[in-house]
Amino acid sequence: EGGNAPPAQSWSFSGPFGKYDRGSLQRGLKVYKEVCSACHGLSYVAFRNLADAGGPGYSVAQAAAFASEYKIKDGPNDQGEMFERPGRPADYFPSPFPNEQAARVANGGAAPPDLSLITKARSYKRGFPQFVIDFFSQYQEQGPDYVDAILQGFEDKAPAGVTIPEGSYYNKYFPGHSIKMPKPLSDGQVTFDDGSPATVKQYAHDVTTFLMWAAEPHMEERKRIGMQVFFFLIVFAILMYFTKRKVWADAH
Ligand code: HEM
Repeated sequence: EGGNAPPAQSWSFSGPFGKYDRGSLQRGLKVYKEVCSACHGLSYVAFRNLADAGGPGYSVAQAAAFASEYKIKDGPNDQGEMFERPGRPADYFPSPFPNEQAARVANGGAAPPDLSLITKARSYKRGFPQFVIDFFSQYQEQGPDYVDAILQGFEDKAPAGVTIPEGSYYNKYFPGHSIKMPKPLSDGQVTFDDGSPATVKQYAHDVTTFLMWAAEPHMEERKRIGMQVFFFLIVFAILMYFTKRKVWADAH
């Protein structure tokens, strides 16, 4: 049984000219850091990526300062000991659990998935055949809509007739409705310094935007080059048309 179809949201990164909203990326990073990272890894993203073009727009120095707030396990050193040191730009976001078994034990049997590619990995089922879902997934709206919806889809009480096992929670949008992630977000939980509302809706939107960037950090460049290719092909087609007219002008 699938979950309810997530409502379609409007995303700044939608469409052929879509771009990431920098403010939303920065707020989403904060939500990930303060909330999601307690359980979920982000292991394909390095701190240095926070200063990459087309990303949250931090300077190299800001990314380095952000990295240094983390403790990274390293070693062995000359004495053969493992040790912890402050993070550096080249480090990747550390995962909260040492391995999948530990993650399962801490979360009632379900390991929280790494979030690096989650906006790509999850597309919701609307009752269409899989190949149709796969085809439309390339437009990249379904993954973010689903993640956004899951974060807002928790309900204290399951509807009449639905029983949720101990240690699981009712979620409108999760396939099967019984999820082992406890409701992670509540109003007021994360403070934004740009005056954006401290609401679950805003947190979900921002962290989803951030996770979309994590999954597709080169999207802006890809779309820009795509448009340049279109422009070139149109100009080239026009030139070819007139060339053809000229070359074949005397043909009968
Ligand atoms: C699953 C996102 C916080 C524990 C998931 C899934 C997403 C997600 C997208 C996958 C759902 C699916 O499989 O379709 C987030 C985000 C968070 C967050 C964006 C921060 C806002 C947390 C926290 C915990 C947690 C704080 C632990 C207390 C889990 C677990 C699962 C899960 C155990 C697996 C659920 C299952 O398969 O039943 N999360 N999560 N998450 N999350 Fe989170």
